Amino acid sequence: MIYLDNAATSWPKPPGVAEAMVGALTRAGGNPGRAGHRLSLASGHIMYDCREALAEFFGAPDPLGVIFTQNATHALNLALHGLLRPGARVVCTSMEHNGVMRPLRALERTGVEVAVVRCGADGVLPVDALAAAVTPGTALVVVNHASNVTGTIAPVAEAAEVARRAGALLLVDAAQSAGTLEIDMGRMGIDLLAFAGHKGLLGPSGTGGLVLGASVDPGRLAPLMQGGTGSRSEQEVQPEDLPDKFESGTPNFVGIAGLGAGLAYVRERGVAAIRAHEMKLAERLREGLLRLAGRAPGVTVFGPADPALRVGAVSFTVDGLSVSDIGFALDEEFGVLTRVGLHCAPAAHRTIGTLPGGTVRLAPGPFTTAAEVDAAVDAIAAVVGRLR
Ligand SMILES: Cc1ncc(COP(=O)(O)O)c(C=O)c1O
Repeated sequence: MIYLDNAATSWPKPPGVAEAMVGALTRAGGNPGRAGHRLSLASGHIMYDCREALAEFFGAPDPLGVIFTQNATHALNLALHGLLRPGARVVCTSMEHNGVMRPLRALERTGVEVAVVRCGADGVLPVDALAAAVTPGTALVVVNHASNVTGTIAPVAEAAEVARRAGALLLVDAAQSAGTLEIDMGRMGIDLLAFAGHKGLLGPSGTGGLVLGASVDPGRLAPLMQGGTGSRSEQEVQPEDLPDKFESGTPNFVGIAGLGAGLAYVRERGVAAIRAHEMKLAERLREGLLRLAGRAPGVTVFGPADPALRVGAVSFTVDGLSVSDIGFALDEEFGVLTRVGLHCAPAAHRTIGTLPGGTVRLAPGPFTTAAEVDAAVDAIAAVVGRLR
């Protein structure tokens, strides 16, 4: 089996992740932040250690500003529903995932003004068009750091400058970039960062978070839910303390233990080394597909030519063939696991011209090998030859 669906969720997980989760259940296991007994304190320590490591990793000012969520979608919803009120203006890009577009379209119906800046056919965000759309008084700018369709990287520092000039906050969707691209919220001017724990940070599913920068007033961010936090229990109103305000209910400390171990692996191997590995494979993949395109006209590979503008995800289509047929044959006949279709990002496909069918996406990860990529390219050539 060759797993090339790391943009959806990473697999396999590095050594230590499963062990940390078992350890959380066996050596800790009490409800964190609730009781004063040793098993509760042990679970609480696991969560705080992970918060601290994430804050340091993302260049965030305060570990308590790391709010754990179930996934990136949950974090994006918290930021968007928490910040935007009727009458507010928000600007996003046309490469956003539905994790951003769907909450924004729902908020639009409540009177939030949504402007979408059109990116180029390679997914590249034109900063001048963004600057024109971010008018004074805009409340929020939302940018997808790296596209899950084309891999295109957004110019986040430039977007931050645009947002800052207009007095807007910048929310970055780091679902595809955390663990793969260096992120320093302070240096890059990111006010809020939504991340997935189960993709490039190599943790288990059910993990993610929203990280608040120093410029964000948590008092202006409404929680998605209210409920028990283990703190200020005499109050019937939601506490304002961080992170409790946003983390009602028993947390996924077992998953967070795994996330801590995944993050430790990423930090030890190094984001730059992981990026170099993934890009070497992505280039091998693209070159293989472009060679195939030379022999089999109608094969199109998407995304910017310059690898500095991309992360590892590579999308392609073949004229006259359904992406589902290609993906099914790759899995059934060759054990090559890809993702086909719209990847929950119809706006991105509209931008690159691949609606309604979508693309076949291949996403190598930190444990993918060059031999696997070569085998996948051979399999694609065979499948395309046979299906045509
Ligand atoms: C760019 C982007 N944003 C958001 C998400 C949603 O992530 P999650 O599945 O963790 O909610 C994804 C998932 O693929 C994504 O690629």
